[in-house]
Parts: sequence; structure tokens; C-alpha cells
Amino acid sequence: MLILAHVSDVHIDGSPRSIDRTRSVMRRLENLPGPLDAVVVTGDIADNGLIQEYEIARELLTTRHPTIICPGNHDARSAFRKVMLDEDGDGPVNQVLRLDGLTVALCDSSVPGRPEGFLEDETIAWLRDVLAESPETPAIIGMHHPPVSLGIPYVDAIRLRNPERLEEIVRQYPQVAAVIVGHAHTAASTTFAGLPLSVAPGVVSTLLLDQELDIPVPVDYDLPPQIAIHVFDEGRLVTHVRPVL
Ligand SMILES: [Fe+2]
Repeated sequence: MLILAHVSDVHIDGSPRSIDRTRSVMRRLENLPGPLDAVVVTGDIADNGLIQEYEIARELLTTRHPTIICPGNHDARSAFRKVMLDEDGDGPVNQVLRLDGLTVALCDSSVPGRPEGFLEDETIAWLRDVLAESPETPAIIGMHHPPVSLGIPYVDAIRLRNPERLEEIVRQYPQVAAVIVGHAHTAASTTFAGLPLSVAPGVVSTLLLDQELDIPVPVDYDLPPQIAIHVFDEGRLVTHVRPVL
């Protein structure tokens, strides 16, 4: 059995609000009585993609657990790479974490300067290579943008634009057990290409359905930050959601 904490959309912008919420979440993970197999962070790390924001994020997101982080639409690849990974370059930031019995492949679905998601050819090729390398090991694919609509027009308009490329891969590599994403700031579960699709809640805010809040973009800033905790056992992903008060 493997346990993954899934943190998403911390949107560090230098304000006490985003910093305090992220600190609370990370403190919760740090103070767990046992180790986690991984902490997975699915994007929107820095609200404006600034070096100073990443410097704060790097400090906050540093943990005793193995950690893997991908960019979201608010991130800037070169600044993300420089501060979070100590690397240079502005291509897609794709990363893999190989655990004992599970591969976690985090794809960069961001499009520089744009809010919607897209998997570039380089990312697709990288993902194929990662999965081809260990076909016997179950895998979870993560990224920022959901590949399907979630019933929230604001976020559905900026979802992943080429889900067919992801579906092709998922169907080609049967070891893929689930897809996990962020972006929507709401804990949600659905399916994609016959697999579970788990959407992480937001740390900085919670996006509601239009039916729940009658404002153009139904964001609730009062609900507490939340995280998902995934249990991966016997090839199945079970997702628990926890508010962090
Ligand atoms: Fe976000």
C-alpha cells in the first residue's frame, strides 16, 4: 500500500493568505506520525510566475517526504525550473517519481502565456518513454489541467485541449491506473478513458458550482484549504479529502 498526499493550486503571491494556507497544509504533512510515500503537487505554484514567489514556494514546499511538483497555467517554466529544480531551460517540465510498486509521471500541461492546457509532442514522447520503461509497474499520470469538463463553465473553458493524445497513451499502456489533476480548486471525481480521474481540491481557494454561488466566477475564499490523500493498493486508487483548519 502506498500513500500519496496531493496538494494543488497554492498560488503563492507574496500575500500572507497564500503563504499561511500553504504553510498550514505542509505543516500538517510534516507532522504526520508516519512517512508518506510521496507528496505530489499539481501546479499553480506561483500566482504570477515570479522568481520571488518561487523562492517562497520552494521553502514552503520542502518536506521530509519525497516530493514531485509540476507547473500549472499560472507558472512560468524557466522561473519554476530555476528555483524549484535548480535547472535552466524553458521547455516543458516533465518529471517522474519511481516508487517501489508505483510510477508517478507528472506532465507539464501548461501553455506559456495561456490559461488552457495542452500536451506538447515533447511531453507525449516523454510520457511514452516513461511508461515503456517499466510496463509491469502500475502508474499514475498527473498534470495540472483536467482532460474533461467538470460542470463548472469557468474552468471547463480552460481545460486540457488535446485529451485525445492522453487517451491514446492511457489505452496503449494498461499499467496506468488513474489520472490525477489540479486546476479546478474543487475536489471532484470522475472518469477518463475508462480510468478514475481524481481532481485535487485547492489550497488557496475553493471553486463552487454556479448553482452554489451566484457570482461570475464562483470562488469561495472562506472554506479552509484542502488536500487529497490517495491510497494506492492492489492496483486501485482511493482518494480521501481533508480540510486543513
Ligand atoms: Fe489554480
